Amino acid sequence: MTVPATVARIEREAADALAGAANVEELRGVVTMVLGKRSPIVRVHRELGALDPDARRTVGKQLHDTRERLEALAAERLEALAGAARAARLEADRLDLTEVGAVVSSMSRGHLHLVDQTRRALEDVFVGMGFEVEEGPETETDWYNFVALNIPLAHPARSMWDTFFLDVGEPETVLLRTHTSPVQIRLMERHAPPFHAVMPGRTFRRETRDASHLAVFHQLEGLVVDHGITFADLAGTVETFANAYFGPDIHTRLRPGYFPFTEPSAEVDVTCTICRGEGCRTCSHTGWLELAGCGMVDPAVFDAVGIDAEEWTGFAFGFGIDRCAQMRHQLADLRLLDENDVRFLRQF
Ligand code: DAH
Repeated sequence: MTVPATVARIEREAADALAGAANVEELRGVVTMVLGKRSPIVRVHRELGALDPDARRTVGKQLHDTRERLEALAAERLEALAGAARAARLEADRLDLTEVGAVVSSMSRGHLHLVDQTRRALEDVFVGMGFEVEEGPETETDWYNFVALNIPLAHPARSMWDTFFLDVGEPETVLLRTHTSPVQIRLMERHAPPFHAVMPGRTFRRETRDASHLAVFHQLEGLVVDHGITFADLAGTVETFANAYFGPDIHTRLRPGYFPFTEPSAEVDVTCTICRGEGCRTCSHTGWLELAGCGMVDPAVFDAVGIDAEEWTGFAFGFGIDRCAQMRHQLADLRLLDENDVRFLRQF
């Protein structure tokens, strides 16, 4: 092989070696090998003296050009490999935000209290049936809580509601509402019929807490006033609600009852949610649990708010929100709802 051909081969092999270096470290080794003191091109250079002057000049120039090309190639490879190394380092150092997200979501975050969740679920059911949601104050006057609801002063029915009176104004005129029924009065006073509304809120009774009673609890009042509303509308509404909220296998029945603001009045029972109607201790083996009071709005109530009882009829109902939560989630004791034990609350 002629010397120029040998140099050309050396260049090809050197270029391949430079191209094949996988990282900066390897590239430095290859550069020493192909351009260093012991490299083939240096060896050939040392042997130039053995050539005749013409060949020496040609090969000398060839060696010079070869070195320049190889040095340029080495610089280019170094640049590429260093860039790749930098990118790899950045990639490795990048903050893994998905991991931060995982840590954050495993930290305990709060959520709505079961009673609020229940209230919203009940509102959703009624809103789905075309009702609006209204609210009223927790502090009421004797007139809204009792008188306008056809419970005049000294009426024996007042004993149905043990009342917390506030030390404001005349004795026993300002109180913490004992039920959400006064919101019916406020609504009918402010607007003209028709009404299709539910009125959830906090209610207060002066009584001893036990497994099925709280002194501070929650009710959801319902009021429908329109032309030609009948008791059948009431029964259908209550049944539709119970199916939607408790499940399609839960039914309702109405038993005669007494409330001063409705006539006729009824108690609503629903299929026992523990035994699903089979009969168990909770429902005293009847298969039914008492859920609500209801009835057709008494004309005396329409009179109190100036609505013509000849033109309009309506029904009303009221039930415990806490009781709904208890029945739906089979809580043994209502007091769990206001004791704020997070071990209990976290389950919902
Ligand atoms: N306010 C009644 C109570 O707390 C419940 C009730 C009964 C509400 C009949 C009504 C009704 O609207 O029509 O005991």
